[in-house]
Amino acid sequence: MTAQARVRVLTGITTSGTPHLGNYVGAIRPAIAASRDPGVESFYFLADYHALIKVQEPARVQRSTLEIAASWLACGLDPDKVWFYRQSDVPEIPELTWLLACVAGKGILNRAHAYKAAVDRNREAGEDEDAGVTAGLYMYPVLMAADILLFNAHKVPVGRDQVQHIEMARDFGQRFNHLYGEHFVLPEAAIEEHVATLPGLDGRKMSKSYDNVIPLFAPREQLRKLIFGIVTDSRAPGEPKDTEGSALFQLYQAFASAEETAAMRRAYAEGIAWSEVKARLFERIDREIAPMRERYEALIAQPAQIEAILREGARRVRERYATPLLARLREAVGLRDLSHAPAARDGKKEKPSAPAIKQYREADGRFYFKLVQGERVLLQSVGFDSPREAGQLIARLKREAAQLRHEAGAGLRLGEALLGELAADAALDEVAQALARLAEAE
Ligand code: TRP
Repeated sequence: MTAQARVRVLTGITTSGTPHLGNYVGAIRPAIAASRDPGVESFYFLADYHALIKVQEPARVQRSTLEIAASWLACGLDPDKVWFYRQSDVPEIPELTWLLACVAGKGILNRAHAYKAAVDRNREAGEDEDAGVTAGLYMYPVLMAADILLFNAHKVPVGRDQVQHIEMARDFGQRFNHLYGEHFVLPEAAIEEHVATLPGLDGRKMSKSYDNVIPLFAPREQLRKLIFGIVTDSRAPGEPKDTEGSALFQLYQAFASAEETAAMRRAYAEGIAWSEVKARLFERIDREIAPMRERYEALIAQPAQIEAILREGARRVRERYATPLLARLREAVGLRDLSHAPAARDGKKEKPSAPAIKQYREADGRFYFKLVQGERVLLQSVGFDSPREAGQLIARLKREAAQLRHEAGAGLRLGEALLGELAADAALDEVAQALARLAEAE
């Protein structure tokens, strides 16, 4: 397997409802398609700590977590190819939340949309500003920043309403880096501009808050009933119909091919009856959903299997990312093993350790180098016949850090040249970052 430095893309799904067709078209389907890109390392997690902010019914949180996990798996998410886990199975997330809370500006949290909206509502109602506002709602952006920064995600696909949260994650990450050294990648929002929003049963945007949704895995007969209940205008069969503003047409388009859509457009012009549109729409949606519905029902019937998948996902992602990073962060902030030498007493600030390349000769007569950062060795080279050979490779390494590849069993390579090995606790892009800092410093 090749582990190139891939772009890390991370998304959380709040477990506070039942997935509907709008979620499928707008989020699940495109995310699963994106997760198949070999240049991307995807993280999908169930944000159940976030759910507790709005839902205080335990059974609903549990049910929603099960349904959302089963839906993503049924729609084709492959837990062997992406990181798929449940937020509350990763204790490093709340731990990091606290570390970030201690650098996050309270004034910034005051400006968070969700909190501000609650305060505004209270003001209008003549209530105390913070009436009914929990510290959980207030801290929501810090928890979300921890979700993202813990995995050093590069990109976070979100709707416009979430962009502010990504900005805050960058801000908290930057403050932390400034105080304690470069630990975090600053994430970017990947704003989903052309994600289809689906109309619901009443023609408004399909949304739980409008109570107009079609559940993604409604049984076939219920799906038919719901589709036949979608509002239309009063044009009779035979009368030409407008595709513009037609909820049925928009829904059809979200599932149909370009040819099918063109055929439906012609049928509208020729006066197709609304009942016929509904019949075709139902069959078209059901054709796409039916195989997934079958998988969904099989999964839901075996919740222990889903539980095992989620736990295994959390175990692996903790081992690979969360646990080692948190160990470094604890060290960085001073939550340290007391038996080691205490830091300087004169109050001088410790500098975050700069990366360096050390060249040396071993007893075997060959020439080696290693990339170190503070006490840590990130990369250990193989032996070279001459110092010149080693030096040339180091120079190339600084210029071409992005080309670095790591193949299990075959070592770290730059093009065809074998460099050496990655340290067990180091990630490839940590190495790339350290090399970039080295190149900058020159
Ligand atoms: N707050 C997001 C939402 O409501 C869900 C979420 C939680 C999330 N943590 C995240 C999204 C981290 C992206 C990254 O949609």
